[in-house]
Amino acid sequence: MASHCVGESDGLTFYLARPEDYDDVMAISHDIYGGMDYLPHRYHSWITEPGRVVIIARRDEKLVALESGLVVDGGETVVVEGLRVSPHERGCGLAGVIQTFADGYVKKIHPRVKSKRLTRGDDPGPEKLRKFALLARRAVLSLWGKSEGFDGFVSSLKQKLLASGVSNSSFRPLVSVQDSGALQAVLLDPDLPSRLQLPGAALIQDWQPLRLVQSNLQILARRDLTWFIDGSGEKPMFLSLHTPLYPVPFDGGSLRFNIDLYGTDPSLAKTALTAHLDRVKSDLQGMVVVHIYMHQTLWKELQQFCEGHEMVRQFRDYWEQLFLERDI
Ligand SMILES: CC(C)(COP(=O)(O)OP(=O)(O)OC[C@H]1O[C@@H](n2cnc3c(N)ncnc32)[C@H](O)[C@@H]1OP(=O)(O)O)[C@@H](O)C(=O)NCCC(=O)NCCS
Repeated sequence: MASHCVGESDGLTFYLARPEDYDDVMAISHDIYGGMDYLPHRYHSWITEPGRVVIIARRDEKLVALESGLVVDGGETVVVEGLRVSPHERGCGLAGVIQTFADGYVKKIHPRVKSKRLTRGDDPGPEKLRKFALLARRAVLSLWGKSEGFDGFVSSLKQKLLASGVSNSSFRPLVSVQDSGALQAVLLDPDLPSRLQLPGAALIQDWQPLRLVQSNLQILARRDLTWFIDGSGEKPMFLSLHTPLYPVPFDGGSLRFNIDLYGTDPSLAKTALTAHLDRVKSDLQGMVVVHIYMHQTLWKELQQFCEGHEMVRQFRDYWEQLFLERDI
């Protein structure tokens, strides 16, 4: 048995993924998430990331499925991501087989793991989700446009902010947080989850839910994130972050930009969105798809705030990110 082989079941052999499996993984990944798949970009960093396992399943040498899990929350939770099954094998329960194997493997090497958490962008209904607790639903606003349109788009958003009086002197400013100590103090404040209505008391960074505990801050620190915080006082009512732009296969090759907003104040949400776009606009190239994740009550106002621009438009109608949990 090859050294990276970790088990067998249901006619499948499971292996820890290696760099040389990349092409086989990509061969089963065409059109996943409508071209928004992060795995082509993240695969190589995933297989070396501390606390992460990436498991592939082969049938007769042929790669047929992949699942990954990152152990978080001080070792108590595994966040599962990347699940995919070869198009020829879908609908036969294979996703269940690799998930059961991966859960067991993670528990074997991380015995303190008690639960698994995941996020997904489709809603198969309560019957299919019966094994899970639905911890939260987040609204998603998606925009797209060619990079050259974003300068004008950001200017138009700034104009709208000015016109609405949001930038006047009584407005609570958003500040960019670069100091890791200051950020840590904000994130570890025990009141923060209730004050910002954090989904399931977690911060979801680009689909990855993390409780605000010290060990998870080290994970967030690895991600090169850009943060803005309501700077009005010691107890911020709003916080936002963006993940660095990354390439996805959409439309022959595009950039994906994910912004996570936390808090429910629409003025702060508009200011934060404008600040994040302003920060990256000079780095954009080619087609860009922006996903903005937020409390459901903010969606309509942000959608109206962004509409009316010719070059940057809404990419899809209202959709949601579901945040799920179950014991394992
Ligand atoms: C989603 C996908 C992995 C399902 O694979 P499949 O083998 O056809 O799955 P099946 O319909 O046979 O379902 C088998 C099991 O997987 C689960 N499952 C199906 N879709 C799932 C999803 N998106 N996330 C988590 N579990 C899922 C089912 O609930 C079922 O679990 P159970 O046996 O414990 O009840 C497959 O269609 C695929 O690769 N799609 C493209 C990638 C993708 O959308 N991945 C979703 C990541 S959130």
